[in-house]
Formats: sequence, structure tokens, C-alpha cells
Amino acid sequence: MATSELSGTTALVTGASRGFGRAITVALHDAGADVVALSRNAERLAELQSQLGGSLTTVAADAADPVVAGQLIEQYRPRTLVLNAGAPPLMRPIQHQTWESFSRNWEVDTRQAFHWIREALILPLAPQSTVIAMSSGAALFGSPLSGGYAGAKAAIRFITGYAAEESGRAGLGIRFVSVLPTLTPATDRGGAAAAAYARRAGVDFAEVGKGLGPAHEPDHVGKHIADLASSTDHAPGAYLLTPGGLKEISQ
Ligand SMILES: NC(=O)c1ccc[n+]([C@@H]2O[C@H](COP(=O)([O-])OP(=O)(O)OC[C@H]3O[C@@H](n4cnc5c(N)ncnc54)[C@H](OP(=O)(O)O)[C@@H]3O)[C@@H](O)[C@H]2O)c1
Repeated sequence: MATSELSGTTALVTGASRGFGRAITVALHDAGADVVALSRNAERLAELQSQLGGSLTTVAADAADPVVAGQLIEQYRPRTLVLNAGAPPLMRPIQHQTWESFSRNWEVDTRQAFHWIREALILPLAPQSTVIAMSSGAALFGSPLSGGYAGAKAAIRFITGYAAEESGRAGLGIRFVSVLPTLTPATDRGGAAAAAYARRAGVDFAEVGKGLGPAHEPDHVGKHIADLASSTDHAPGAYLLTPGGLKEISQ
């Protein structure tokens, strides 16, 4: 695998306080990047900072706020930008969603991807930068208890693909990638989703876990995101992430 050194480069991760984002932050930090970790919960970020020996920059802010996106992209000009923050969807069938609950992930996850990706293109970030946006396997397979979640995540995949095309057309050299992890109960968000599907099927949580196969742990996700950021073999595009690893699924 051809790699480019992350050591001494700046990485910015949204949704860094727990779950995948926390593991991605640790993996990029371990690879030598100077990481800026963003989420709303300052206390959890402070815990992470003390775990990593204080060499982490933390920002308590709303990733979906366009001003936050514009200011932080200009301030840090990250070589690696991981747009991971995501809202927990209200786990109910469609008829029990309101428009507000249905559109929650559009207002957080998709809005975030739109603002940060737009800022990355217009600044622009330096050539050889990588922008990784967290979509979901639900964008391919649907998620009937999560309202607009699957559609919001499919839109993130499209936005990332459009940005890759614009980067190519303008010769910017910024690599835009979307990652579609399959469901894992190993995070707060994934655990709540798996529990809702178990209740719906009238089976216990462990049964759903078995049906999902081996769970991917946040550390596994962190490692693959750090590999994507450092490996120049991975072309711009969309990648399904399963416990077996990353698989390119085209733009
Ligand atoms: N777990 C899965 O099975 C799975 C599968 C496919 C895709 N994904 C996607 O992977 C990403 C991470 O999932 P996860 O399971 O690790 O979720 P999680 O455990 O619920 O963590 C979500 C993170 O996002 C942050 N966040 C939420 N809203 C935010 C906002 N407006 N601004 C800044 N930070 C915000 C949260 O921190 P604060 O609350 O402190 O802000 C937290 O750090 C999400 O985009 C999710 O949709 C997860």
C-alpha cells in the first residue's frame, strides 16, 4: 500500500467525543497527526485530551453550523478532514415520525457535510488533502426505523461524489471519499438502533447482534479511516466498511 506520512500534518475530526469519532481521533493521533477534535460536549473532549496526553486540540461546537465550518477550515486548513458527527435518529416506524424527527439527520449530518465540503472546495484545502465523510450502509440498504436517516446518508455520498468531480475539474488535488459503515451495536447510536430493531422483531438484543455478524468495534473503524487518510492507493469514491474492511463501491 502506498502511503503518505500523517506525522506532523493536521487532522480535524467532527463528532470526536465518543463512538467512531473518538476512535478515529485516537488512530490519527497515534499515526502522528496533530488532531483537532470537535463535538458539542466539552467534558468528554477534555477526558479524551487527558487520555492522549494533552497533545490534542479540542473545540466544543456544533458541526452543522456554517460559521463553525468556515472559521475552523480557515484556521486549521486540515490535511485530513473527517466529517463523522451524526445525530441519533428517533427509532420509530415512518408513521410515528414527525417531519422534524424524520429530517433530523438531514439537519445535522447532511447539513454538516454540505457546509464543510463547500468550504473545503472554496478555500481551497491544499492539494493532497483528504476529506472523508461518514455516510452509512443504510444509504444502500435503507433503515426503516430511522426516519430520514438512510436518505440523509445517501445525500452525503452524493455530495462527496460531486465534490470529488469539482476537485478534479478545477485541478485542486483534494481527495473526497465517503465511507459507508454497516450497523454495529458497539456505539451509543448503533446500540440504540440494534435495540429498536430487536424490539420490533420481538427478539432479544443478542439475537439481532448475531444476525449482524461480527460487530465492528470503533477501533476497527478508526484504523481504517486512518489508513484511508494515509494511503494514496485509495481513489476518491465511496467505500463500504464492514468487519472485513473497506470495499470500493464506486462513486
Ligand atoms: N454505529 C453505527 O452502526 C453506524 C453505522 C453507519 C454509520 N454510522 C455513522 O457514523 C458516525 C458516528 O456514529 P457513532 O455510532 O459513533 O455515533 P455516536 O456514538 O452517537 O457519536 C456521535 C458523535 O457525534 C457528535 N455529534 C452529534 N451531533 C453533533 C453536532 N451537531 N456537532 C458536533 N458533534 C456532534 C457526538 O458528540 P456530542 O453529542 O458531544 O456533540 C458524538 O461524538 C455517524 O455519522 C453515524 O451516522 C454509524
